[in-house]
Amino acid sequence: MITISGIPEMKSLANEARSQNLAIGFVPTMGYLHDGHMSLVQRARSENDVVVASIFVNPTQFGPNEDLELYPRDMEGDRHKLQTAGVDALFLPESGQLYGPGYQTYVIVETVSLPLCGSSRPGHFKGVATVVLKLFNIVRPTRAYFGQKDFQQLQVIRRMVSDLNVDVSVIGCPTVREADGLAMSSRNSYLDVSERKQAVALNQSLLFAKTMFHSGETSSRIILDAVVDRISREPDARIDYARIVDSHTLSDVDQSDSASLVALAVRIGKTRLIDNMILG
Ligand code: PAF
Repeated sequence: MITISGIPEMKSLANEARSQNLAIGFVPTMGYLHDGHMSLVQRARSENDVVVASIFVNPTQFGPNEDLELYPRDMEGDRHKLQTAGVDALFLPESGQLYGPGYQTYVIVETVSLPLCGSSRPGHFKGVATVVLKLFNIVRPTRAYFGQKDFQQLQVIRRMVSDLNVDVSVIGCPTVREADGLAMSSRNSYLDVSERKQAVALNQSLLFAKTMFHSGETSSRIILDAVVDRISREPDARIDYARIVDSHTLSDVDQSDSASLVALAVRIGKTRLIDNMILG
Protein backbone atom coordinates (compact mmCIF):
# COMPACT_ATOMS: atom_id res chain seq x y z
CA MET A 1 0.00 0.00 0.00
CA ILE A 2 1.31 3.41 -0.88
CA THR A 3 0.52 6.49 1.17
CA ILE A 4 -0.18 9.69 -0.73
CA SER A 5 -0.64 13.06 0.88
CA GLY A 6 -0.37 15.39 -2.11
CA ILE A 7 -3.42 16.15 -4.26
CA PRO A 8 -1.38 16.20 -7.54
CA GLU A 9 0.11 12.76 -6.71
CA MET A 10 -3.32 11.33 -5.91
CA LYS A 11 -4.75 12.77 -9.13
CA SER A 12 -1.96 11.34 -11.23
CA LEU A 13 -2.42 7.85 -9.73
CA ALA A 14 -6.16 8.10 -10.46
CA ASN A 15 -5.59 9.38 -14.00
CA GLU A 16 -3.10 6.60 -14.67
CA ALA A 17 -5.54 3.92 -13.46
CA ARG A 18 -8.41 5.44 -15.44
CA SER A 19 -6.26 5.62 -18.59
CA GLN A 20 -5.70 1.86 -18.27
CA ASN A 21 -9.46 1.28 -17.87
CA LEU A 22 -8.99 0.10 -14.29
CA ALA A 23 -11.96 0.46 -11.94
CA ILE A 24 -11.18 2.50 -8.82
CA GLY A 25 -13.07 1.63 -5.62
CA PHE A 26 -12.99 4.42 -3.03
CA VAL A 27 -13.69 4.34 0.70
CA PRO A 28 -13.62 7.84 2.23
CA THR A 29 -13.25 7.82 6.03
CA MET A 30 -12.31 9.99 8.97
CA GLY A 31 -10.14 7.20 10.37
CA TYR A 32 -10.20 5.30 13.68
CA LEU A 33 -11.31 2.39 11.58
CA HIS A 34 -13.60 -0.36 12.84
CA ASP A 35 -15.21 -3.41 11.24
CA GLY A 36 -17.90 -1.22 9.67
CA HIS A 37 -15.26 0.67 7.68
CA MET A 38 -13.45 -2.57 6.91
CA SER A 39 -16.64 -4.09 5.44
CA LEU A 40 -16.66 -1.18 2.96
CA VAL A 41 -13.02 -1.81 2.14
CA GLN A 42 -13.65 -5.54 1.61
CA ARG A 43 -16.55 -4.80 -0.71
CA ALA A 44 -14.45 -2.26 -2.62
CA ARG A 45 -11.62 -4.79 -2.89
CA SER A 46 -13.94 -7.45 -4.31
CA GLU A 47 -15.47 -5.15 -6.96
CA ASN A 48 -12.59 -3.05 -8.28
CA ASP A 49 -9.08 -3.25 -9.73
CA VAL A 50 -7.63 -0.48 -7.56
CA VAL A 51 -8.78 0.38 -4.03
CA VAL A 52 -8.17 3.82 -2.51
CA ALA A 53 -9.10 4.70 1.09
CA SER A 54 -8.84 8.20 2.49
CA ILE A 55 -8.49 9.39 6.06
CA PHE A 56 -9.36 13.01 6.62
CA VAL A 57 -11.10 14.46 9.68
CA ASN A 58 -13.03 17.09 7.78
CA PRO A 59 -13.32 20.32 9.78
CA THR A 60 -16.16 21.76 7.71
CA GLN A 61 -18.64 19.07 8.81
CA PHE A 62 -18.17 19.78 12.55
CA GLY A 63 -20.14 22.51 14.32
CA PRO A 64 -18.39 25.03 16.62
CA ASN A 65 -19.18 23.05 19.81
CA GLU A 66 -18.67 19.57 18.38
CA ASP A 67 -15.87 17.01 18.78
CA LEU A 68 -13.45 18.00 15.99
CA GLU A 69 -10.50 18.32 18.37
CA LEU A 70 -11.41 15.19 20.35
CA TYR A 71 -12.23 12.99 17.36
CA PRO A 72 -10.35 9.70 17.95
CA ARG A 73 -7.27 9.03 15.84
CA ASP A 74 -5.08 5.94 15.39
CA MET A 75 -3.04 6.38 12.24
CA GLU A 76 -0.71 3.43 12.75
CA GLY A 77 -3.58 1.04 13.60
CA ASP A 78 -5.58 2.30 10.59
CA ARG A 79 -2.63 1.95 8.25
CA HIS A 80 -2.10 -1.65 9.37
CA LYS A 81 -5.79 -2.57 8.90
CA LEU A 82 -5.93 -1.03 5.41
CA GLN A 83 -2.69 -2.66 4.32
CA THR A 84 -3.87 -6.07 5.58
CA ALA A 85 -7.18 -5.66 3.75
CA GLY A 86 -5.36 -5.15 0.44
CA VAL A 87 -5.88 -1.41 -0.08
CA ASP A 88 -3.61 -0.10 -2.84
CA ALA A 89 -3.41 3.56 -1.86
CA LEU A 90 -4.10 5.48 1.33
CA PHE A 91 -4.86 9.14 0.64
CA LEU A 92 -4.07 11.43 3.59
CA PRO A 93 -4.69 15.02 2.53
CA GLU A 94 -3.84 17.93 4.82
CA SER A 95 -6.58 20.34 5.80
CA GLY A 96 -4.64 23.30 4.36
CA GLN A 97 -4.45 21.59 0.98
CA LEU A 98 -8.17 20.86 0.73
CA TYR A 99 -9.23 24.21 2.17
CA GLY A 100 -6.50 26.63 1.11
CA PRO A 101 -6.38 30.38 1.83
CA GLY A 102 -9.42 32.17 0.45
CA TYR A 103 -11.46 28.97 0.22
CA GLN A 104 -15.13 29.87 -0.38
CA THR A 105 -16.92 27.18 -2.39
CA TYR A 106 -19.44 24.78 -0.82
CA VAL A 107 -21.99 22.23 -2.01
CA ILE A 108 -25.50 22.53 -0.54
CA VAL A 109 -27.91 19.67 -1.11
CA GLU A 110 -31.18 21.27 -0.15
CA THR A 111 -34.25 19.34 1.04
CA VAL A 112 -32.73 16.01 1.98
CA SER A 113 -30.13 17.77 4.19
CA LEU A 114 -32.72 19.60 6.28
CA PRO A 115 -34.44 17.11 8.64
CA LEU A 116 -32.94 14.71 11.23
CA CYS A 117 -29.19 15.36 11.67
CA GLY A 118 -29.46 18.39 9.37
CA SER A 119 -31.67 20.12 11.88
CA SER A 120 -29.58 19.21 14.95
CA ARG A 121 -26.26 19.82 13.20
CA PRO A 122 -26.72 22.87 10.94
CA GLY A 123 -24.07 23.00 8.21
CA HIS A 124 -23.01 19.38 8.75
CA PHE A 125 -24.17 18.08 5.36
CA LYS A 126 -22.81 21.15 3.57
CA GLY A 127 -19.39 20.12 4.93
CA VAL A 128 -19.93 16.46 4.04
CA ALA A 129 -21.16 17.11 0.49
CA THR A 130 -18.32 19.57 -0.14
CA VAL A 131 -15.53 17.30 1.02
CA VAL A 132 -16.98 14.22 -0.68
CA LEU A 133 -17.26 16.05 -4.01
CA LYS A 134 -13.70 17.33 -3.63
CA LEU A 135 -12.46 13.80 -2.85
CA PHE A 136 -14.39 12.44 -5.85
CA ASN A 137 -12.72 15.04 -8.09
CA ILE A 138 -9.28 14.04 -6.81
CA VAL A 139 -9.65 10.25 -6.56
CA ARG A 140 -11.94 9.88 -9.63
CA PRO A 141 -13.54 6.68 -8.28
CA THR A 142 -15.63 4.32 -10.38
CA ARG A 143 -17.47 3.24 -7.23
CA ALA A 144 -17.60 4.83 -3.77
CA TYR A 145 -18.69 3.01 -0.62
CA PHE A 146 -20.62 4.44 2.34
CA GLY A 147 -22.23 2.81 5.39
CA GLN A 148 -26.00 2.82 5.86
CA LYS A 149 -25.58 3.74 9.52
CA ASP A 150 -25.17 7.29 8.19
CA PHE A 151 -28.34 6.87 6.16
CA GLN A 152 -29.01 10.57 5.65
CA GLN A 153 -25.40 11.14 4.57
CA LEU A 154 -25.81 8.39 2.00
CA GLN A 155 -29.01 10.01 0.64
CA VAL A 156 -27.35 13.44 0.54
CA ILE A 157 -24.40 12.03 -1.43
CA ARG A 158 -26.66 10.11 -3.82
CA ARG A 159 -28.68 13.28 -4.47
CA MET A 160 -25.51 15.35 -5.03
CA VAL A 161 -24.07 12.77 -7.44
CA SER A 162 -27.32 12.61 -9.39
CA ASP A 163 -27.96 16.39 -9.43
CA LEU A 164 -24.38 17.34 -10.36
CA ASN A 165 -23.91 14.49 -12.88
CA VAL A 166 -20.92 13.09 -11.06
CA ASP A 167 -19.61 9.99 -12.78
CA VAL A 168 -19.45 7.59 -9.81
CA SER A 169 -21.62 4.74 -8.52
CA VAL A 170 -22.51 5.32 -4.88
CA ILE A 171 -22.83 2.04 -3.01
CA GLY A 172 -24.55 1.84 0.38
CA CYS A 173 -23.41 -1.04 2.61
CA PRO A 174 -25.20 -2.57 5.61
CA THR A 175 -24.53 -1.33 9.14
CA VAL A 176 -22.09 -3.56 11.01
CA ARG A 177 -23.00 -4.17 14.65
CA GLU A 178 -21.28 -5.30 17.83
CA ALA A 179 -22.39 -8.66 19.27
CA ASP A 180 -25.03 -6.91 21.42
CA GLY A 181 -26.40 -4.95 18.46
CA LEU A 182 -24.77 -1.54 18.96
CA ALA A 183 -23.96 -0.05 15.55
CA MET A 184 -20.21 0.29 15.11
CA SER A 185 -19.01 3.88 15.23
CA SER A 186 -15.70 5.56 15.96
CA ARG A 187 -17.60 7.62 18.56
CA ASN A 188 -18.43 4.47 20.60
CA SER A 189 -14.91 4.88 22.01
CA TYR A 190 -16.17 7.92 23.99
CA LEU A 191 -18.58 5.74 26.05
CA ASP A 192 -17.66 4.62 29.56
CA VAL A 193 -18.65 1.15 30.77
CA SER A 194 -22.09 2.15 32.04
CA GLU A 195 -22.86 4.27 28.95
CA ARG A 196 -21.73 1.45 26.67
CA LYS A 197 -24.35 -0.84 28.28
CA GLN A 198 -27.06 1.80 27.93
CA ALA A 199 -26.18 2.43 24.27
CA VAL A 200 -27.66 -0.92 23.28
CA ALA A 201 -31.08 0.71 23.78
CA LEU A 202 -30.84 2.29 20.32
CA ASN A 203 -30.68 -1.04 18.51
CA GLN A 204 -33.17 -2.69 20.88
CA SER A 205 -35.73 0.05 20.32
CA LEU A 206 -35.30 -0.24 16.54
CA LEU A 207 -35.79 -4.00 16.69
CA PHE A 208 -38.84 -3.43 18.86
CA ALA A 209 -40.23 -1.03 16.22
CA LYS A 210 -39.64 -3.60 13.52
CA THR A 211 -41.40 -6.32 15.52
CA MET A 212 -44.41 -4.03 16.09
CA PHE A 213 -44.58 -3.26 12.36
CA HIS A 214 -44.39 -6.96 11.46
CA SER A 215 -47.18 -7.66 13.97
CA GLY A 216 -49.45 -5.28 12.02
CA GLU A 217 -48.92 -1.89 13.72
CA THR A 218 -48.59 0.88 11.12
CA SER A 219 -49.22 4.02 13.19
CA SER A 220 -45.89 5.83 13.30
CA ARG A 221 -47.00 7.62 16.48
CA ILE A 222 -47.65 4.35 18.33
CA ILE A 223 -44.39 2.77 17.13
CA LEU A 224 -42.40 5.89 18.05
CA ASP A 225 -43.98 6.04 21.52
CA ALA A 226 -42.64 2.52 22.14
CA VAL A 227 -39.19 3.49 20.79
CA VAL A 228 -39.04 6.57 23.02
CA ASP A 229 -40.26 4.56 26.00
CA ARG A 230 -37.51 1.95 25.56
CA ILE A 231 -34.72 4.55 25.22
CA SER A 232 -36.01 6.66 28.10
CA ARG A 233 -35.49 3.76 30.49
CA GLU A 234 -31.73 4.42 30.30
CA PRO A 235 -30.73 7.02 32.90
CA ASP A 236 -28.11 8.79 30.75
CA ALA A 237 -30.04 8.74 27.44
CA ARG A 238 -31.40 11.98 25.94
CA ILE A 239 -33.22 11.69 22.64
CA ASP A 240 -32.17 14.22 20.02
CA TYR A 241 -34.68 12.84 17.50
CA ALA A 242 -36.71 9.66 16.97
CA ARG A 243 -38.60 9.76 13.68
CA ILE A 244 -40.21 7.48 11.13
CA VAL A 245 -39.55 8.84 7.65
CA ASP A 246 -39.86 7.88 4.03
CA SER A 247 -36.50 6.29 3.24
CA HIS A 248 -36.09 8.26 -0.03
CA THR A 249 -37.32 11.73 0.87
CA LEU A 250 -36.62 11.52 4.63
CA SER A 251 -39.92 13.30 5.35
CA ASP A 252 -42.07 12.10 8.26
CA VAL A 253 -44.76 9.52 7.56
CA ASP A 254 -47.88 9.11 9.73
CA GLN A 255 -48.53 5.59 8.45
CA SER A 256 -45.48 3.37 8.26
CA ASP A 257 -44.90 0.96 5.43
CA SER A 258 -42.13 -1.48 4.58
CA ALA A 259 -40.01 1.31 3.04
CA SER A 260 -40.23 3.50 6.13
CA LEU A 261 -37.10 4.19 8.10
CA VAL A 262 -36.91 4.60 11.85
CA ALA A 263 -34.10 7.10 12.47
CA LEU A 264 -32.59 7.88 15.85
CA ALA A 265 -30.08 10.28 17.34
CA VAL A 266 -29.57 9.83 21.05
CA ARG A 267 -27.06 11.31 23.47
CA ILE A 268 -25.74 8.80 25.97
CA GLY A 269 -24.02 11.06 28.45
CA LYS A 270 -22.03 13.43 26.24
CA THR A 271 -21.82 11.08 23.26
CA ARG A 272 -24.24 11.54 20.39
CA LEU A 273 -25.03 8.25 18.62
CA ILE A 274 -27.14 7.65 15.53
CA ASP A 275 -28.77 4.50 14.21
CA ASN A 276 -31.60 3.55 11.88
CA MET A 277 -33.55 0.60 10.51
CA ILE A 278 -35.91 0.06 7.59
CA LEU A 279 -39.14 -1.40 8.96
CA GLY A 280 -39.81 -3.82 6.11
O1 PAF B 1 -18.79 9.17 7.11
C1 PAF B 1 -17.69 9.76 7.26
O2 PAF B 1 -16.74 9.22 7.83
C2 PAF B 1 -17.51 11.17 6.74
O3 PAF B 1 -18.69 11.90 6.86
C3 PAF B 1 -16.99 11.22 5.28
C4 PAF B 1 -17.97 10.59 4.31
C5 PAF B 1 -15.64 10.52 5.20
C6 PAF B 1 -16.79 12.68 4.86
O4 PAF B 1 -15.90 13.34 5.69
